[in-house]
Amino acid sequence: MNPTLLTQPELIDLHPSPGDLRAVVGQGLAQQPRQLPPWLLYDQEGSQLFEAICQQPEYHLTRLEKGLLQRHAHHIRHCCGGHGAGGLITVVEFGAGGAHKVAPLLQALRPAAYVALDISAAHVHAACIGLQPLHPQVPMVAICCDYGRLSALPDHPLLAGQRLGFFPGSSLGNCSRAGAVALLRHMATLLGPGSKLLLGMDQPQDIAVMEAAYDDAAGVSARFARNLLVRLNRDLGANFQPRHFAYQAHWNPSGQRIEMALVSQREQRVRIPPLEAVVPWAMGEKLITEHSHKWGPEEVQVMAQQAGWHGVGRWCDPQDRFSLHLMEHGSPSQC
Ligand code: AVJ
Repeated sequence: MNPTLLTQPELIDLHPSPGDLRAVVGQGLAQQPRQLPPWLLYDQEGSQLFEAICQQPEYHLTRLEKGLLQRHAHHIRHCCGGHGAGGLITVVEFGAGGAHKVAPLLQALRPAAYVALDISAAHVHAACIGLQPLHPQVPMVAICCDYGRLSALPDHPLLAGQRLGFFPGSSLGNCSRAGAVALLRHMATLLGPGSKLLLGMDQPQDIAVMEAAYDDAAGVSARFARNLLVRLNRDLGANFQPRHFAYQAHWNPSGQRIEMALVSQREQRVRIPPLEAVVPWAMGEKLITEHSHKWGPEEVQVMAQQAGWHGVGRWCDPQDRFSLHLMEHGSPSQC
């Protein structure tokens, strides 16, 4: 009998405090244009809506990345030093959500442990509990946190070994270029010396294809963005009227990004009691909910290098639309 079958993955909750939420929203609404950090999109409902986005036919990212992981997991293992059963590496996933992508890695690498970080506590914990029976020999722990602002990984026995960071979904694209370099450097610090990072990145492609990916015909992307307002109404007692904001996703060529925004459809005022503020919105005024940058592989390589990472390998689909980059912190080596 395997003892790991008997324990359920635990949840370590390091969720930002309500005070953090107030401060972050106050800052974001004071900016010009107004913009809120993407992690606010992922309350319970938002996490579910994001999973629905991943299943839309227009959203190519998830399909392509899952294919790459299935096809290349064994090669990735080889490049990670070929750890066999009882291997030494711990897989740490940043923004694991429903943990729908990691299975091929768990199967091929047989890591010492799987650590799933996500902002949505119930979501990531349920995901680990669901995943555990399928990988009984891999102990798992869920950590609820804003990984961008986490000062260190918690002191936990499952985090004892060498680490492979796993940052799929092109989530790095939510950051500005400078922010992305800073986050990659931060991840190196969190993961520690000798660590590796597997980074999934969507690439620049046909503009109509990219815009459709972020504004699907079924309207799930629009609901996902509007849910941000619903969340602020619930958590801050605000009185946003989501139907008075239109969703928009446009490619910004000079910024190399899709810009997602809620656009005020009228002049309106919104009360946010804990901020002691009434926020006026002009007709057509925007709240940017997210940026999704699309950088090519060479650019990703340069950014990674600026953060102290060196490319070990890259795998992409036949049309070179999406890449998995494997990198190592410190001295360069090729696989
Ligand atoms: C989770 C940031 C990777 O940018 O593709 C998808 C978020 N928002 N559709 C992306 C998102 C609307 C997604 N990331």
